[in-house]
Amino acid sequence: MQVSFRSIAQSYGRHKLFQDLDLVIPSGKFFTLLGPSGCGKTTLLRMLGGFVRPDSGQILFGNDDVTDVPVHRRGVGMVFQDYALFPDRSVLDNVCYGLAARNVPRSQARDRALHMLQRVGLEAFADRAPAGLSGGQRQRVAMARALVIEPRLLLLDEPLSALDVKLRVELRSMIRDLQTEAGITTVFVTHDQEEALAMSDLVAVMDRGRIVQTGEPREIYAHPRTAFVADFVGSANLIPIEQELPPADGLRRLRTAAGIVLTRCDVSVNAGAQLAVRSEEMQFGPDSRAVEGQIAGVIEHVEFRGSITGYTVRTAAGALRVDLRTTQHGRLRARGEAVTLDLPRDARIVRAS
Ligand SMILES: Nc1ncnc2c1ncn2[C@@H]1O[C@H](COP(=O)(O)OP(=O)(O)O)[C@@H](O)[C@H]1O
Ligand SMILES: [Mg+2]
Repeated sequence: MQVSFRSIAQSYGRHKLFQDLDLVIPSGKFFTLLGPSGCGKTTLLRMLGGFVRPDSGQILFGNDDVTDVPVHRRGVGMVFQDYALFPDRSVLDNVCYGLAARNVPRSQARDRALHMLQRVGLEAFADRAPAGLSGGQRQRVAMARALVIEPRLLLLDEPLSALDVKLRVELRSMIRDLQTEAGITTVFVTHDQEEALAMSDLVAVMDRGRIVQTGEPREIYAHPRTAFVADFVGSANLIPIEQELPPADGLRRLRTAAGIVLTRCDVSVNAGAQLAVRSEEMQFGPDSRAVEGQIAGVIEHVEFRGSITGYTVRTAAGALRVDLRTTQHGRLRARGEAVTLDLPRDARIVRAS
């Protein structure tokens, strides 16, 4: 089922959180709202669930306007960061809850709940209380409880944020597998860009109540449109562009504080435009004297991180980060060494906002 926000506005006191927000979530997709804390992700999710009514605008499920449809009539399954399980009921009863509320006969509800528990690998825990479960297991129960009602829409609000890294990565694929099997339209909220890239069919990047870019993970990563997206989704080196010079050899020439850089990117240079270069796209040049297209600098910091060796290089355009794969690394550079940086020819021009 396709889900849409149409001309949504919402204020809290004098603070206008959303103004004329439009968003379409295509049917069957795993769709992620990604943005820093406070940008409005949870509020949008709660509007879909029916917990928050927008000041104006509409929420559509397919072609149906559900803006005024109450929570229990929306056919929505929800999972929250804090599990929200009933502590005094067994795991099985927790999963049965939504079915009982829908008047599904007890024995049938039991069978469906046990089947869902099996899918999340917890059938052996059916009679336990949630308190006897680990965080990861509780979140599996919460997933089973959300899916057992066969919702039209699944809403996941930072369900992995309270878990430690290893478990988070494990549960990512479980959630994705369950979603794909059920083919259910899913809206996932996170502030974690890696999680968003790893799990989603589509990502909408949010900044202060606005959706700044929507696309497939690879598209957003490779072609961020603004400096905010470039830096929030994977981190980027941002180099302010001072002026565009006449092109040469099919490459655009852009003057920066640290010399002339070259790119094939066809985005126009407006006021505040910057060049965005990922740290893993930077390389050291062979010499310490920079030619056009390179930037000169001095190594300020070297950080060995296992698979990656990270450098911070002080340049006339500020500190730039260079990440090299340790196994493919040539000569190690030392702190204080003068170096040149080769920038990729497809470095992106991004707008200020
Ligand atoms: N019920 C509320 N009353 C007042 N302010 C709210 C309420 N709900 C959300 N906000 C404000 O709206 C903004 C967005 O909140 P939220 O949607 O929770 O963001 P996120 O989930 O992205 O962290 C925040 O500044 C928050 O303080
Ligand atoms: Mg939130």
